[in-house]
Amino acid sequence: MNYPIRSLEFKNNKLYLIDQRALPQKYEKFICRNYKDVEFAIADMVVRGAPAIGVTAAYGVVLAALEFIEFPIKQFLEQMQTACDIINSSRPTAVNLMWAITRMRTLLVESDSPEEILCKLKAEADKIADEDVKTNKKMGQYGNSLIPQKATILTHCNTGALATVEYGTALGVIRAAFENGKDIFVYADETRPRLQGARLTAWELVQEGIPAKLIADNVAATLIRDGKIDLILVGADRIATNGDSANKIGTFMLSVIAKAYDVPFYIVAPTTTIDFEIETGSEIEIEERSSKEVTHIRGVQVAPDNIEVYNPAFDVTPNENITVIITEKGIIYKPFKENILKLK
Ligand code: MRU
Repeated sequence: MNYPIRSLEFKNNKLYLIDQRALPQKYEKFICRNYKDVEFAIADMVVRGAPAIGVTAAYGVVLAALEFIEFPIKQFLEQMQTACDIINSSRPTAVNLMWAITRMRTLLVESDSPEEILCKLKAEADKIADEDVKTNKKMGQYGNSLIPQKATILTHCNTGALATVEYGTALGVIRAAFENGKDIFVYADETRPRLQGARLTAWELVQEGIPAKLIADNVAATLIRDGKIDLILVGADRIATNGDSANKIGTFMLSVIAKAYDVPFYIVAPTTTIDFEIETGSEIEIEERSSKEVTHIRGVQVAPDNIEVYNPAFDVTPNENITVIITEKGIIYKPFKENILKLK
């Protein structure tokens, strides 16, 4: 494995993704050769995490342009719009996906040739990827300013290098605090059903040598009640303009417990995760995934046949449960609505 961890790389007209389905047992790459491979990779969670999904989608548009490059401009543009629609609908909740596709679509203009468009799309996707790394480092700095010299931090899901291009959002803040010599200890929720905490966050923490313990999701309340957690850091997949934030299922439950015991609850997310089109979290589409994610763990059946399952992948944390939102443009304090709209 190369260091630092980079979730994706575009080279020789192919997109190489760390296959996050295989970690931690296997470190292997999934190669996207065309845009349909990208659609599959996002939907099947080869790659996941809002910022990483956005950047992957942008490279998916580049792969589509490579496929249709020989078409006359009119048909080229038609095929490209269809490809954008297909990639755009690969997962519904993380707004970074729609944001990246919208940004790539602005380059689909009839006044350029397919070759010129391809060239511009590739440059734009590279720019989106570079911006993501810089954004994460900035959030790391802002977030670090809120972390005491000695702190025990609870986190949920995976918000690290694997969920972004490099470094991470909430896990990026943890990295920054650690790099700044702070005495930190991390509790990582395992994050059922897909185990992003156990498989991915724990893996990144071990790679970094950051002191940590993995816990089953249902341990968090006890740790919080017992005064063992100084603060909670989580990411987001979509933030409404009133601050309501969609994130991995279980985040809302944590925020309720944090509020009950007066533990600071921080969201760390780039401004590309803010959906300026929606006012509240009730407008966020919550993805429901296959029942097999709950009835099976890594291919082993743990529930009876024929049991019905409810498996939402995300939930919405209401703004009143959030202490601050850390972005690359600074820390957003309350009142969220007023301060979020200033970032538009
Ligand atoms: O279903 P996933 O693994 O894509 O969900 C990821 C999360 O919920 C993350 O917390 C979120 O995308 C922020 S990642 C920087």
